[in-house]
Amino acid sequence: MVAPEYVPEDAEVENPLRPKTLSEYIGQEKVKENLAVFIEAARQRKESLDHVLLYGPPGLGKTTLAGIIANELGVGFRVTSGPAIEKPGDLAALLTNLNPGDVLFIDEIHRLSRSVEEILYPAMEDFAIDIITGKGQMAASYHLPLPRFTLVGATTRAGQISAPLRDRFGVVLRLELYSPEELARIVTRSAQILGIPVEADGALEIASRSRGTPRIANRMLKRVRDFAQLMSGGVITYESAKLGLDRLEIDEIGLDANDRRMLSTMIRFYNGGPVGLETLAAAIGEEAVTLEDVYEPYLMQIGFLSRTPRGRCVTRAAYLHLGMTPPGAEQSAQQTLFHD
Ligand code: ADE
Repeated sequence: MVAPEYVPEDAEVENPLRPKTLSEYIGQEKVKENLAVFIEAARQRKESLDHVLLYGPPGLGKTTLAGIIANELGVGFRVTSGPAIEKPGDLAALLTNLNPGDVLFIDEIHRLSRSVEEILYPAMEDFAIDIITGKGQMAASYHLPLPRFTLVGATTRAGQISAPLRDRFGVVLRLELYSPEELARIVTRSAQILGIPVEADGALEIASRSRGTPRIANRMLKRVRDFAQLMSGGVITYESAKLGLDRLEIDEIGLDANDRRMLSTMIRFYNGGPVGLETLAAAIGEEAVTLEDVYEPYLMQIGFLSRTPRGRCVTRAAYLHLGMTPPGAEQSAQQTLFHD
């Protein structure tokens, strides 16, 4: 439920919940303000928009924003992803089929292979590609001009992409986790589109447990609707939201069983840290990148986890949330007794 990765249900390109304009898009105020300027300026100059890199944890709306950029520019929108472009020829085919001004969106752009990246550099910089066909004496090289286009790249962390690629983006925007109030507005909007009656405190309850992520909030909305349908006449109230989310084992602050397992492993086996990322990943049977991209951003945002040069540490707040005694607490309790 709280995995922010795509599942087919929310990946549909024609997902009716995706806003189509900047004014419909809730949250990310700084990003929206800047993008509005860059889009309008490019429109006035009748130029293509500079290439845009969007980065931030999964599920925050990078694909949605890319679609909005294309829509606001009034140009075509083509979607692909780093792993889907296997060979340089795949990228060449995509690029040569673009119309002037189009937005090409490459999700997970950090996963492009080396050889594909090398085609992308001149395409981004000079709007041309060099293709070599044949071998030996039959080899021929073609310089193929491309229409001007806007590449929108998305990655979970800007640090994951190579420096030469990063340097070719004129606009680099970081998406932040959403506040519960912003998520409540998103849930209310989505409920309206899906025709689900939701009360304000029901929306806020879903929002508060969505770990700052619209994709999770929208998914929870659909599941909570099922509970509400059978238990409270179809209306999502505070009570039916709470009941549904409790049944899904998502606690009041949005942690699921995996988050709690990670924190309690750190406490039980490593005295709350510091513990290295790889060690921790092995201990809970997850990949290190999953910990970094999926679990850690929210746990750090709510102050349950800190990153230190020697490894990850659980904070006092996390001990208390799990009903465990933070280190030093026994001692200070004893001191209090002693002084009394
Ligand atoms: N649905 C998903 N993300 C959204 C956002 N940021 N604004 C409005 N609706 C959304």
